[in-house]
Amino acid sequence: MWSPAVPEPRSTGPSGGSAPVERPPSIPPPAPAPTPPAAAAAAAPPAVLTDGLRKHYGEKRALDGFDLVVSRGAVHGLLGPNGAGKTTVVRILATLLRLDGGRAEVAGVDVARDPRAVRRRIGLTGQYAAVDEIVTARQNLVLFGRLFHLDRKRAGRRAAELLEQFGLADAADRAVKEFSGGMRRRLDLATSMILAPEVLFLDEPTTGLDPRGRSEVWESVRSLVAGGTTVLLTTQYLDEADKLADRVSVIDRGRAVADDSPAALKRQIGGDRIEVVVREPADLAAASRIIARVSSGEPDGDPETRRIAAPVTDRVGALTHVVRTLQDERITVEDIGLRSPTLDEVFLHLTGHRAEGSGPAAGEARADATGGGDGRDSGDHTDGGAGRRAPGGSSRAHGATGRKETVA
Ligand SMILES: Nc1ncnc2c1ncn2[C@@H]1O[C@H](COP(=O)(O)OP(=O)(O)OP(=O)(O)O)[C@@H](O)[C@H]1O
Ligand SMILES: [Mg+2]
Repeated sequence: MWSPAVPEPRSTGPSGGSAPVERPPSIPPPAPAPTPPAAAAAAAPPAVLTDGLRKHYGEKRALDGFDLVVSRGAVHGLLGPNGAGKTTVVRILATLLRLDGGRAEVAGVDVARDPRAVRRRIGLTGQYAAVDEIVTARQNLVLFGRLFHLDRKRAGRRAAELLEQFGLADAADRAVKEFSGGMRRRLDLATSMILAPEVLFLDEPTTGLDPRGRSEVWESVRSLVAGGTTVLLTTQYLDEADKLADRVSVIDRGRAVADDSPAALKRQIGGDRIEVVVREPADLAAASRIIARVSSGEPDGDPETRRIAAPVTDRVGALTHVVRTLQDERITVEDIGLRSPTLDEVFLHLTGHRAEGSGPAAGEARADATGGGDGRDSGDHTDGGAGRRAPGGSSRAHGATGRKETVA
């Protein structure tokens, strides 16, 4: 079955779709809602709801009763390791995949019953960058504007606005193949925002980016949220969810295993980690004892790397105490700091098992966000047959951005 190639332009307000989305000047505002704003807000359904969502690929159970509620105007993080089911959730919500059981709604619209209405409300930035390399950033945006039925003039105006908003105005007329990973990702985000959707799905927006690229993308996401868009963002990094999300759902083997604010989640797993690397292996035991006095859980020492990590709730107090005591006892340290728990640590705590397919080294690589060689699979399977060659040769998996997609 084919989904429509091009979503309809959002010229009128959808019934029940009264989210406070600030529309860009070149996009006509929706018709005013008949209900008073306060009453409408109280009655408004969540931006995203899934209830007992199920999906299998042959024998493989990808989603096994997945529940999720995303409030309007929120940034909701969906945190999970490779193969947990994140992309499957996003693709069902974006109407690119058919669900096998349970219920999924976007802004109160059932994705199975009315996928066209869902597509009018959403934007999607898939797991793999989908912009066209050969043409310029401006040309990419104009092309997408035209796909969304904007006339030439409005498409040009909207492109200029988005280039400004995403900090790409200076690079607007350069070919995308000259862009850094962070710039590409920001352009990718900009293409999903052409019609200022109510709900934006971002599938691992910063995986593979260096720290600077990540913070650039985070800035862009923050500016979208300030404009009223609800964001559902998948990630393998707790620190990303921590920085961006109001709420985090942790997904493991197709089920939600936690749903909380990032702060509460961190508290639940014992807080941030203090990490110390001692110079002399002989000092490891003494340093461990010092750290144990301020930590909220057992210190975890690794003789090979001379590194000790332990959860702490009073971050500054713990760090100060440990630095002073190590100095008093003349223990030389090579490194000391505070960091967010890694996905592995979150998983171990919440599920009692390590994230599948990730040893401790992989967990570290993810926490450092070095991307690239972090052992992730190519993810080709996640396309479910829907990633296609776009005109101009870029590969994309964006049904919601005006691409023909197979609904699997
Ligand atoms: N088209 C497909 N055919 C068969 N199995 C699939 C397909 N797509 C996904 N899967 C499997 O379903 C499970 C969930 O995959 P999904 O892509 O949703 O995970 P993910 O959390 O997005 O992982 P990643 O972090 O690697 O992107 C995995 O075990 C995956 O191998
Ligand atoms: Mg994925």
